[in-house]
Amino acid sequence: MNAWNRVTIFALAALAITSTLRAEEKVIPTDKLTKQNTSIKAVMKEAHKKPHEILKKTALGKSTKEEQKRLLALYKIMATHAPPKGDAKAWKTKTNLLVKATEAVIAGKPDAKKMLSKASNCKSCHTAHKQ
Ligand code: HEC
Repeated sequence: MNAWNRVTIFALAALAITSTLRAEEKVIPTDKLTKQNTSIKAVMKEAHKKPHEILKKTALGKSTKEEQKRLLALYKIMATHAPPKGDAKAWKTKTNLLVKATEAVIAGKPDAKKMLSKASNCKSCHTAHKQ
């Protein structure tokens, strides 16, 4: 191995470490979430994508109270954003349903999980509001 290869490997390793640290830094505490630091994309990533998938866990009754509160905070912020596409009123209706359903889960209402699954139809919202 020549010196340049060694330099490259070292640089890549350093880069990998810093990006891992950055990724961990990104978790904003629930009470610090704001419209400015939490985009719709960030909500999607945390609530709907692996590894967190708080929505799925919640709809299956497998989330903790903390996670449910986090989901609610994320959806509340999402509701205040303007959608990248589509009718603003329809967006409000959809996002408010998500907020209401998550509140119902937290309150332990019997049909809340069903409400949440219904309110979180990925395809219908993406067709209307995702570019
Ligand atoms: C209430 C509306 C709504 C619902 C419900 C919804 N999405 Fe989204 N989703 C959006 C919008 C709007 C975007 C585009 C955001 C942007 O481009 O800023 C998006 C983007 C995404 C992205 C891309 C994020 C990125 O980084 O580019 C993923 C992944 C995603 N959604 C997953 C899901 C999954 C999985 C579900 C169902 C479990 C779902 N979404 C349900 C509105 C919704």
